[in-house]
Amino acid sequence: MQPSERHEQQDAAVDLAAQFRATRALTEALVAPLSDADASIQSMPDASPAKWHLAHTTWFWETFLLREHAPGYRLFREDWPFLFNSYYEAEGARIARDARGMLSRPALAEVLEWRAVVSEAMTPLLDDPALAPLIALGVAHEQQHIELLLTDIKHALFQNPLGPAMWERAHPPAAALAAPVGWHQHPGGIALVGHHGDSFAFDNEGPRHRVLLEPFTLADRLVTNGEWDAFIADGGYRDARLWLADGWGWVQREGIAAPMYWRGDQHFTHQGWQVRDPHAPVTHISYYEADAFATWAGARLPTEFEWETIAAGHDPATGNQLDCAGPVLPQGAAGLFGDCWQFTRSAYLPYPGFRVAEGAVGEYNGKFMSGQVVLRGASCATVRGHSRASYRNFFYPHQRWQFTGLRLAKDI
Ligand SMILES: [Fe+2]
Repeated sequence: MQPSERHEQQDAAVDLAAQFRATRALTEALVAPLSDADASIQSMPDASPAKWHLAHTTWFWETFLLREHAPGYRLFREDWPFLFNSYYEAEGARIARDARGMLSRPALAEVLEWRAVVSEAMTPLLDDPALAPLIALGVAHEQQHIELLLTDIKHALFQNPLGPAMWERAHPPAAALAAPVGWHQHPGGIALVGHHGDSFAFDNEGPRHRVLLEPFTLADRLVTNGEWDAFIADGGYRDARLWLADGWGWVQREGIAAPMYWRGDQHFTHQGWQVRDPHAPVTHISYYEADAFATWAGARLPTEFEWETIAAGHDPATGNQLDCAGPVLPQGAAGLFGDCWQFTRSAYLPYPGFRVAEGAVGEYNGKFMSGQVVLRGASCATVRGHSRASYRNFFYPHQRWQFTGLRLAKDI
């Protein structure tokens, strides 16, 4: 190895160690306002208790790094992996997902103690170049759970008629006046999509490959609350012609008439009930709603490849994303990244040449490629630095407890 190569490797290890510590600390800072009861309840099967997220991310480090690569490390508690394995069949039996809210024990304080022990035990592993890819995956995994923790606790607090605030702020700053929509034009042709280079990416972002784009145009900002008010006022939720059949069935069955968390001119936020800002991006909508709105607006949702081709020229670390513990709210509407994840009309499928990795971590993404749609960008609850132009988020079409929004596209 050349000296310069060795220096690069050392610098990368320092960066990764710093990312590990910052991510662990951010998770813990976010739950500081929560009581043990707040952190233990599960408001629906899709959402997990905050305490479970704290523990599951720790289980990931203990299982895939410490157990395998730290000589002499002993599990903190032999019977906890059953509680905190999420979906890894290779790691054996586990508690049912919808029973995570039954875990009154271990207490929040015990989980935090486990976190401290595991973070400390990780220290000697952080500068081992052979483990760097797995540690980068662990950091990205914990960052994903930070966003889930935030959206899950929001849903849990929303259930409480008192409308508790996680962070107090009486008057959120008004979003800048939403500008008229401008359009990114693209002439079409063969485009290269998917992750490339040596930096970290999830396996589902590759292999890089060619796609054929027809000429299209993509809005330069997100759809706003005020525009969604106009959709509602125009009978958008009552006009079957605007909806996909599955979406119309969902609207009828569930009695849907507005985005999640809306009540009159207010919406529920991590800061409690707030008056909605008409210039802020609309959020907490399903794929069905996004598609119906686009149809109503005389447009359509972009494909994930159209979105990526435009976003490739933009800095993914910009926009309203998560930097520290504190108020979380979509505020701006401009930029490709931040505020809300954006629905695409693309099914979440493997790219040409995709292969599931060997071992338990191969269960990370590939087995979920059925029945879900791709979202692109990043939200106000995404840890800054986590997302990329090639990043593929994915949810089922009816789900809307994430910070989901939309950006229009058109054929030209
Ligand atoms: Fe996980």
